[in-house]
Amino acid sequence: MTSSVAIVTGAAGDIGRAIARRLGEDHDIVLMPDLDGEAVERAAAGLGNPGKFVALACDITDVTRVSAMAARSAELGTVRTLVNNAGAARAVSLHDTTPEIWRMDNALNLEAAFLCFRAVEGALKQSQGSVINIASVNGTNVFGHPAYSAAKAGLLHLTKLIAVEYGKYGIRANAVSPGTVRTQAWEVRAAANANVFEDARRWYPLQRIASPDDVANAVGFLASPLASAISGVCLPVDCGLTAGQAELARTFSQSENY
Ligand SMILES: NC(=O)c1ccc[n+]([C@@H]2O[C@H](COP(=O)([O-])OP(=O)(O)OC[C@H]3O[C@@H](n4cnc5c(N)ncnc54)[C@H](O)[C@@H]3O)[C@@H](O)[C@H]2O)c1
Repeated sequence: MTSSVAIVTGAAGDIGRAIARRLGEDHDIVLMPDLDGEAVERAAAGLGNPGKFVALACDITDVTRVSAMAARSAELGTVRTLVNNAGAARAVSLHDTTPEIWRMDNALNLEAAFLCFRAVEGALKQSQGSVINIASVNGTNVFGHPAYSAAKAGLLHLTKLIAVEYGKYGIRANAVSPGTVRTQAWEVRAAANANVFEDARRWYPLQRIASPDDVANAVGFLASPLASAISGVCLPVDCGLTAGQAELARTFSQSENY
């Protein structure tokens, strides 16, 4: 039996690192490709268990580098889980979005997931494995960052495309859609407004934001046999945000129960 491998892209980031740690519990090896080679070396070393967590400098928007990533994963074992986690948003409004930003956000948040999937689909067929795409509440509702959001909406559709076309090989594809998670991606916004997480919290029915471990636990579930009949879905990890807002329900219903 070859080793079971999980790939987590963008694994130097806070959410990616938490997912890598979680998948390390039920995979032999976790391959951690990230654009920032030094940061991902540190992240892998920080997870301990030498040999289990393998850092790889890799730009997942570059098809040649993605092929090299797939070749590295084949040296390690058979990919059972691919987590398309790397992502970033560059412009906050349509007004600020240049054609270049539109293309870059689509390349990273949508096209790279397609490239990574195609690069390891042979291994996923062998293992009857699964793909988990880290989308965002921005993929279904408007919360700013338009190019990123349109790409995440596309990523939700890619999830269904894989589920339907590759289901016959036993491959499952699902998405996890986080709301606000405090990570390095929020640094600029937190520097501009020290209360940004407090301000965000009031819109969440659970009155808190999700943690990287909340996202990682959802990924762990979807990757596991517990989810063996689940494919083509998007699991929000958003503390209730996309269900609705209590403040609006109070206004619309004029009920103090909200
Ligand atoms: N933080 C949030 O509030 C939030 C909310 C919803 C969804 N998400 C999604 O969760 C995922 C992780 O977000 P995060 O907050 O941990 O971000 P992060 O910025 O902390 O980490 C992202 C990682 O991706 C890497 N990366 C960027 N471009 C890359 C490329 N071309 N090739 C390989 N790696 C690349 C970065 O180096 C970084 O380590 C993203 O897909 C993001 O859209 C985050």
